[in-house]
Amino acid sequence: MKGIILAGGKGTRLYPMTIAVSKQLLPIYDKPMIYYPLSVLMLAGIKEIMIISTPTDISQYEKLLGDGSKIGVKFEYKVQTEPRGLADAFILGEDFIGKDSVCLILGDNIFHGGGISIAIKEAISNKKGATIFGYPVKNPKEFGVVEFDKSMNAISIEEKPEDPKSQYAVPGLYFYDNEVINIAKNVKPSNRGEIEITAVNNEYLKRKQLKVVTLGRGMAWLDTGTPKGMNQASSFVESIQSTQGYYVACIEEIAFTQGFIDIDELNKNGEELKATDYGKYILSICEEEKIKIKGMK
Ligand code: TTP
Repeated sequence: MKGIILAGGKGTRLYPMTIAVSKQLLPIYDKPMIYYPLSVLMLAGIKEIMIISTPTDISQYEKLLGDGSKIGVKFEYKVQTEPRGLADAFILGEDFIGKDSVCLILGDNIFHGGGISIAIKEAISNKKGATIFGYPVKNPKEFGVVEFDKSMNAISIEEKPEDPKSQYAVPGLYFYDNEVINIAKNVKPSNRGEIEITAVNNEYLKRKQLKVVTLGRGMAWLDTGTPKGMNQASSFVESIQSTQGYYVACIEEIAFTQGFIDIDELNKNGEELKATDYGKYILSICEEEKIKIKGMK
């Protein structure tokens, strides 16, 4: 399975912060925003990842993430000349996806909580069609809302409905089979001139191939598209990291626990960042691992 992170867009709700800087490079507490969606793809076991951004911003992502070898993944970079819509990812990514299935994540969506890996595994186990997620919210009128039956088949998806048919919002994480390329190519631009992801999902719905996995109460889904959202997300990450001692979206740690890199590579990453608490955290994982290994001998 391939992964795509959408990290373009205009970020108008974050102006003036995003006039000169791409939204997904802004910090959420102690790391760039894109680390959070990247960590979700890595937790899904995905190692081939395409990053899509604007002509002016793409080089910044290359500078930040490189070819991916430091964390045992392979990055490809693709320019989106205009923000044509979320479903444009599959048209831009056609050659990259090839004959594979694909997971799309929006660069400004943060997921955290024990349930995320299980939910992802469930989504990956649905080999045919598409899988989206349902996250219970208090104010469904402000979101894309999905209604589903007992077998977790979607019945309807509506964008910002006046009269929501469920409490479940659809977050920016989607799994598709290879058909998504053809479907996206045939989507007509909406009134706002975008190739909408909802149109892609509605096509799968029409084909009776749209599954829903619900994300439980213990899971946090945070949207960082506004200053308030960014601030809340930063506080959330700071609070988890300082109370639990575990880092959220430490991509080097995830690379190690997923078996993408070994302890020497992890240590090297930690050394490069050792002026920060983030780097010290990575080095502390190395120390713990060495003790574990010694104990086993
Ligand atoms: P949005 O939040 O819908 O758009 P935006 O990021 O431009 O923000 P604003 O509404 O403040 O102007 O985009 C969701 C995510 O998808 C975000 O991470 C940017 C990304 N995106 C693209 O990469 N290309 C696109 O064509 C669009 C529409 C969004």
